[in-house]
Amino acid sequence: MHVLLTAGPTYEPLDPVRFLGNRSTGKMGYALAEAFAGVGATVTLISGPVALPPPASPSIKTVRVETAQQMYEAAAVVAPTAEVWVFAAAVADYRPATVAPEKIKKAGDTLTLELVKNVDIAATLGQTKRPEQFAVGFALETTNELAHALDKLQRKNFDLVVLNSLRDAGAGFGHDTNKVSVLDRAGQVLNFELQAKTELARVLVQLIQARITTSYA
Ligand code: CTP
Repeated sequence: MHVLLTAGPTYEPLDPVRFLGNRSTGKMGYALAEAFAGVGATVTLISGPVALPPPASPSIKTVRVETAQQMYEAAAVVAPTAEVWVFAAAVADYRPATVAPEKIKKAGDTLTLELVKNVDIAATLGQTKRPEQFAVGFALETTNELAHALDKLQRKNFDLVVLNSLRDAGAGFGHDTNKVSVLDRAGQVLNFELQAKTELARVLVQLIQARITTSYA
């Protein structure tokens, strides 16, 4: 089994020294890469800028990128030959409309930035997904969690969506633990306890494996 995995944040440059980013650490995505390798899969891990060392397993190939556009281009190369796609990256939805060639100097009391939309990696690749391929997305929501997550599943052609709620203590960005619910296309919801991201990664990989086996049966 070949797995395409996106992880970490993206950095969208503003000038040679500044960027727009987010607080994703990449821990959940890196833990998933290790867990897939643990069950014998080969993994292409496309990672935004994170402080984590590249996974040691020889069956994980790590490709480091910075921007959403670079992450999309790297993922598009791998997607046709990967049976499983997991989109764990926190991709910046917008980037600065222009990247200043020189450091932006301070001037005036306010500064307005114009942002333009980035490519939606999961949704764009989702349009090319073949019936035998399996896609898993993540959703981080603060309100109407289940409804938003189900909408994302349909819009991005996911088979499963992993929902983290920011309302849960210990879940989401920066923590070593996570508490998630998993939704499928039939609207079935599985709730998981708060647990270490490494343990949760193993549980999610088992769930994905079981779903793939069922769809081939
Ligand atoms: N995603 C992606 N490319 C983007 C934005 C999101 O591949 N440009 C993927 C994420 O990796 C995740 C899923 O889409 O698996 C949902 O991401 P999220 O940021 O929650 O969704 P958005 O579509 O950005 O919706 P919103 O910000 O309005 O909640």
